[in-house]
Amino acid sequence: MKNILITGGAGFIGSHVVRLFVNKYPNYNIINLDALTYAGNLKNLKDIEERSNYTFIKGDICDTEQIRSIFLKYDIDAVIHLAAESHVDRSIKDPFSFAKTNVLGTLNLLQAAKEYWSNNIKDKLFYHISTDEVYGSLTDTGLFTEQTAYDPHSPYSASKASSDHFVRAFKDTYKLPAIISNCSNNYGAYQFPEKLIPLFINNICNNKPLPVYGTGENVRDWLYVEDHASAIDVIFHKGEIGETYNVGGFNEWKNIDLIKVLIKTVDRFLERKEGTSEHLISYIEDRAGHDYRYAIDASKLKNELGWSPSLQFEEGIEKTVQWYLENKEWVEEITTGKYQDYYKDMYANKNPI
Ligand code: NAD
Ligand code: DAU
Repeated sequence: MKNILITGGAGFIGSHVVRLFVNKYPNYNIINLDALTYAGNLKNLKDIEERSNYTFIKGDICDTEQIRSIFLKYDIDAVIHLAAESHVDRSIKDPFSFAKTNVLGTLNLLQAAKEYWSNNIKDKLFYHISTDEVYGSLTDTGLFTEQTAYDPHSPYSASKASSDHFVRAFKDTYKLPAIISNCSNNYGAYQFPEKLIPLFINNICNNKPLPVYGTGENVRDWLYVEDHASAIDVIFHKGEIGETYNVGGFNEWKNIDLIKVLIKTVDRFLERKEGTSEHLISYIEDRAGHDYRYAIDASKLKNELGWSPSLQFEEGIEKTVQWYLENKEWVEEITTGKYQDYYKDMYANKNPI
């Protein structure tokens, strides 16, 4: 039996990873530690919350005593670390909370793992989930590889770069068995509606303006979230200790072109004439320090571990739009704040540590 601590499992990507592991590996104990910040939503995991190989703990990765006691009580063998502050715009307004959670929280987890595994590191793994934003910004050509030098620009990417450096420092200094993966932009079900794709789907549905930063020419490489979860599964099981893997969709889009695809798709689902909602596009002031282009070379992961994305972008967007239209209540509970009551109803009287 493996005891796996997944941090940030109530968030967007984390919930897909938790669901995949709980369903696919009944012989693993999955312990989901999440602080339930504004981005954490236990409704994301409603379908698996009663499963016998799943435990939810509300807790903060910065809380040293709590993390130590979780390692001890659950005899943790591996960590898949996703908990983070994740939104670039929020990091521009409040860089300190990003340094606290992403840097100090990661350091705290590393220290707890190092202490708890000090007598036996055999078959242990600290797997850190990071971002392509640590590599900075590309011009019109080239791709980020695992060898690309770090060059973060936003407080978010600076905090993730710092956390990556701490993971490597623990690997080199204390021989902590660690792997890092750096992924491009994810999209799909359960993404918090502050990020481009869910925000715009919701606004198109409600005939609200679509705030395009700057010229809309910025480029992102999009990956369906379940494909990221499957990459995490492959890297967790087959990745080599000490290595870094880039994860991406081989799928670059200019923001404005992506937004037009979204408009067409939502219009079609709503039985409006395709393109009707283009009048909602509203160019606004650019994001400060807005990185021009991200694009991942994921060939190491493909060639060495055999992973490739499974979905074509058009199919992923269809599924995503359909999910948001069929789950309007999920979005409404976020916009009204009601989603945060779910913890009180479902979990508050259970004390798993
Ligand atoms: P998210 O914001 O949707 O979820 C983050 C989760 O972490 C939330 O459930 C939140 O409650 C939890 N959390 C925050 N602070 C915490 C703390 N102090 N202690 C415990 N839990 C805490 O983020 P996401 O988009 O799912 O991203 C998950 C991870 O993947 C992050 O590390 C992010 O940097 C990385 N990543 C994201 C993307 C993307 O496109 N979303 C791409 C590459 C990498
Ligand atoms: O590249 C991976 C990163 O992708 C992750 O590490 C981050 O956690 C994740 O949030 C995401 O960062 P981005 O800043 O690229 O994602 P976001 O959805 O915020 O923005 C995507 C692009 O759309 C970006 O160029 C900014 C632009 N944008 C975004 C919003 C929210 C707009 O033009 N208008 C908007 O309202």
